[in-house]
Amino acid sequence: MSKSSPGLVYDPSGVFLPQRGLAPSDLDAVREPLLAARKEMLETDLSLWSSGGAVPAAKQPLDAGFHRLPERMLESYRKDRDKSELGRILRVAAKLREEVDRVVLLGIGGSYMGAKALMEACCDPYWNERSRAHRGMYPRLYFEGNNVDNDSSSALLDLLQSGPKDSVEGAWGLAVISKSGGTLETAIAFRQYLRALEQSVGGDKEKLARRVVPVTGTSGKLFDLSKAIGCPEIFEVPDGVGGRFSILSAVGLLPAALLGLDVLRLLEGAVQMNDRFASEAPGENPVLDYVAVCRQMEVLRGADTRVLSVWSKSLESTGLWYDQLLAESLGKHEQGALPLTVVNTRDLHSRAQQHQEGKRDKLFTNVILENWKWDPLPVGKSERNQDGLNDLADKTLPEVMRAAIQGTNEAYRLDGRPTADIRLPKADESSLGQFFQMMMLATVLEGRLIGINPYGQPGVEAYKKQMNAALGRK
Ligand code: PA5
Repeated sequence: MSKSSPGLVYDPSGVFLPQRGLAPSDLDAVREPLLAARKEMLETDLSLWSSGGAVPAAKQPLDAGFHRLPERMLESYRKDRDKSELGRILRVAAKLREEVDRVVLLGIGGSYMGAKALMEACCDPYWNERSRAHRGMYPRLYFEGNNVDNDSSSALLDLLQSGPKDSVEGAWGLAVISKSGGTLETAIAFRQYLRALEQSVGGDKEKLARRVVPVTGTSGKLFDLSKAIGCPEIFEVPDGVGGRFSILSAVGLLPAALLGLDVLRLLEGAVQMNDRFASEAPGENPVLDYVAVCRQMEVLRGADTRVLSVWSKSLESTGLWYDQLLAESLGKHEQGALPLTVVNTRDLHSRAQQHQEGKRDKLFTNVILENWKWDPLPVGKSERNQDGLNDLADKTLPEVMRAAIQGTNEAYRLDGRPTADIRLPKADESSLGQFFQMMMLATVLEGRLIGINPYGQPGVEAYKKQMNAALGRK
């Protein structure tokens, strides 16, 4: 990527408010501890992780593998395009899309949320409804194995079985993603969808194997099952990369490649953020500044709800990906802010009342797109002016959106409701790569700052245990 590639901007100016917000000196107060936490991540964590030596108990688990993963992926691809993991991912995706028109991604939590975010942000919003030609021959993508919802899963199976026989348009495949390989929701769905796929390929074992692409650990139930099926390629969730930090491994890259996204630009965007995190000073460093603001708003102003206001429908799943990242990483030991994604202007009509006049426990962070992909759509002049919109005839939707953002920020400012902005150049691979890496780094940085291990999710085991007991299993 050229040095001039447009960068993500974090602008906290809207949090500097008398009484209710912060003063610049509040950020200075946390400067040294943040720099120390950055050092811990860049030096201690990375060297412990890469040396493979004993990890002290207080740091276990240490899933710091995500941090330099984009660099490692790109480097090995540049060294050996064919044998590198990225090369294999691109090859498998290319082969599968020649054979099938629909792919079902089975996975839950960190094993699907990144892929969904990428699809919604980077693809046509009506991707699955477009013709194969319109999609450039890339397959439709569906998500299952992220629930045990009888009707939704049955309806998708019905849809898959109703396609035309003996043609690419009616053919489908599976990407099954589970790091542990034992997550019940995904495992049940895999069993059911595999049975349906076997029927749809008329019992052809080779075809079946080709149509299933697993992403999992190097051992475990899914790994064993994939071997038994004879899947020619099994992609790895690398050791030391946790589920919700795995978007830039095969977990996110395989679905991205299936959709024809530019995975190199995605990884390069993440590398760009890594470089900024490591080198830029507070005041210019999006990761350090974001954590400083979030932290100080929580500590000094009791803002323990973090509202991520995304100003584009295409970013809803990106917000949900972040909700999971923050909630599972820092929601421990009775601590951790509550993340909440809202999509505006849509949710101004469902949440704005509370956000404008409710409890003062919120920090708002807007995620704003600087550029849209489609040409600006004008309101237009009409002879039927009963709606009274002719005065806006020359305005376009981006202009109306800008006014909504400006108006909302101003209304919050006037009432002392602190608001920061993250500005993304565009909803594309480069911007998303920067955003994902920024948020993963910020989550770990905050964890290190407050002494909470951001990795692992021990609390999730409790429901699994009780659920298995309710099913009569040990
Ligand atoms: O962040 C995490 O680790 C979790 O959300 C997991 O991604 C989720 O529980 C799915 O786990 P697995 O990939 O092992 O099926």
